[in-house]
Amino acid sequence: MPAPKILVIPGSVRTGSINVRLAAVAVEEFVRADVEVTRISLGDFPLPIYDGDMQARSGVPKAAVDLKQMIGAHHGILIVTPEYNASLPPLLKNAIDWVSRVQSSHEARGQVFHERAFAIASASGGRFGGARCLAALRLVLTACRATVIPNQLALSFAGDAYDDRERLKHPADADALKAMARQLIDAAQNMM
Ligand SMILES: Cc1cc2nc3c(=O)[nH]c(=O)nc-3n(C[C@H](O)[C@H](O)[C@H](O)COP(=O)(O)O)c2cc1C
Repeated sequence: MPAPKILVIPGSVRTGSINVRLAAVAVEEFVRADVEVTRISLGDFPLPIYDGDMQARSGVPKAAVDLKQMIGAHHGILIVTPEYNASLPPLLKNAIDWVSRVQSSHEARGQVFHERAFAIASASGGRFGGARCLAALRLVLTACRATVIPNQLALSFAGDAYDDRERLKHPADADALKAMARQLIDAAQNMM
């Protein structure tokens, strides 16, 4: 059976982002598992804050259609996001909101979410590792009728989570990442 394609989307575009850093470590995990993996930046898909009047006037922005197509070109998607005030950062929520409004011909609105497997992870400098954001993100993706795998990773004290070779130094974190990656690959395989 051919290997599924995996897309990794960090929910931050900040220089030095601890979530982009975790996303890079996750990419390495997928490479080790021998699957095709692509990491994107939401900075390459600039979107205005969702505005229904704008959509009625001019349709969904091209960047949202492009992001939808990028998601559609993969079977499994890993989102690695910061927690803002116990929830999703607006950059990520806005991107999901716009993509959920894209309706291509012969497709239901937001259909790209229905046929993809998602995994979610978060890195935070704090004790809880963004776990509350993961609960909120799981709810949002489920509302979009995405399949969200049970395994997830909330990386706490992320500033001190790596060894000098940029690997997760605590076995519990490394094991959680590996298990999540494996489960996403298996779920993505079922989407092929
Ligand atoms: C508006 C705002 C709200 C935040 N709220 C939380 C929070 O609820 N929980 C948390 O662990 N960290 C919170 N943080 C800290 C972020 O986790 C921290 O800034 C992190 O480095 C952001 O992720 P990034 O490095 O990937 O950009 C917040 C940061 C900002 C800017």
